[in-house]
Amino acid sequence: MSSQLDLSVESAADPLADTLVDTPAPALRPAFQTGRQLDVYRAGPRTGPSAIPVQVEELAAKARRLLTPEAWEWIAGGAGRGDTVRTNRDAFAKWQIVPRMLCDIDRRDFSVELFGRRHPWPVLLAPVGVQGLLHPDGEKASATAAAELGLPFVLSTVASNSLEDVAEAAGPGPRWFQLYWSRDREITRSMLGRAERAGYEAVVVTLDTPILGWRERNLDHGSLPFLHGEGLANYTSDPAFVAGLPGGRVDDRAAVVEHYLRVFSNPGRTWADLSEIRAATRLPVLVKGIQSPDDGWKAVQAGVDGIVVSNHGGRQVDGGIATLDCLPGVVRTVGGVVPVLFDSGIRRGADAFKALALGATAVLVGRPYLWALAVGGAAGVREFLLNFLADLDLTLGLAGKRRLAEVYRDDLALAGMMGPDLGTDRWAIAAE
Ligand SMILES: Cc1cc2nc3c(=O)[nH]c(=O)nc-3n(C[C@H](O)[C@H](O)[C@H](O)COP(=O)(O)O)c2cc1C
Repeated sequence: MSSQLDLSVESAADPLADTLVDTPAPALRPAFQTGRQLDVYRAGPRTGPSAIPVQVEELAAKARRLLTPEAWEWIAGGAGRGDTVRTNRDAFAKWQIVPRMLCDIDRRDFSVELFGRRHPWPVLLAPVGVQGLLHPDGEKASATAAAELGLPFVLSTVASNSLEDVAEAAGPGPRWFQLYWSRDREITRSMLGRAERAGYEAVVVTLDTPILGWRERNLDHGSLPFLHGEGLANYTSDPAFVAGLPGGRVDDRAAVVEHYLRVFSNPGRTWADLSEIRAATRLPVLVKGIQSPDDGWKAVQAGVDGIVVSNHGGRQVDGGIATLDCLPGVVRTVGGVVPVLFDSGIRRGADAFKALALGATAVLVGRPYLWALAVGGAAGVREFLLNFLADLDLTLGLAGKRRLAEVYRDDLALAGMMGPDLGTDRWAIAAE
């Protein structure tokens, strides 16, 4: 069986197809990971300039060798000393997966429904700005790869390509638009209208960046892409933004940058202001950057359709809480009410599994796909994603799972805590 990720609709004879009631059933291939794994083995050593190492640490190292120091720091940079970047990762080691045996995992379906559309995997590509720094095709390359695999691509407001160009590259692939909520109401309305017309299916309003974090590594490089006019394609293509430029001149870079810095955000906002977004779009609205259960509750009260638990990959607050540590509290507070998505620190299938077990509806992958973009463009991102999905599929299977609904908190043990006290007494099992 080929491991190519064929996203064609399953045949009517598929016994699992009737459980997918909303949208066409996604590709479901028994043991997808096995075929992918054999392909990778058969391809031999992953050498060559654009080969994508399976180990993400190797992938990051390769990207680093290829990128300018400024571009590398743009990806790697975190707030302050980088403690939150580290903490995000360390949090995953506190949980360990409990594998389960003889669960008939021959056929598996890890699709998830979000806002009326069923997606083949609970995985999205996180919004990341200025991807033109990493590869000439920028977001178009990442969106193309995501579309090929049916994964939603979340396009950043501060992109190197306009949202219309990215939509064209993504074709029928699912795409969401991440909004940096402008101080200028007309720009916000205009961008949301454009996103709707270009086929974006949800809006992700990032709340954690009303002001830019103190990113020491970037500060020491004296490097902020926006000051050079990079990452502003959605602004220079926006009529409401251009109307605010002297003479409407988008070729006046200094004026563009000044205007952008003026309108980028409004730190004076409160929860009540979210009604502005609601009124400006018919699309589902998610808020990104939620870390406290209380904020999760306020977001739901404000009428959002979904939440992304995220700390922006540790780029905003140094010494902050790991997002994995935030997740259970937010899920407990609002998990039954709206989908709770998760990012910050996802590197491998096991990380995604842990987030799913702690209640995430789906996860967003960030830095790793950027490393792949830098090394191999669209093909590189696709390659990385195939590996990531194979790893996730395998991990879910080896934990005895056939569907996401079977993944629970009990599939995890706190590191070192699966002692004899935590098992079930033998007499109780016998009594079942
Ligand atoms: C280089 C870079 C740029 C980012 N740009 C944005 C952005 O424009 N909008 C946004 O909401 N989040 C942005 N993020 C945050 C990501 O969406 C995501 O939350 C983060 O990458 C998750 O952390 P991880 O990559 O360490 O897993 C950016 C992250 C990185 C690394």
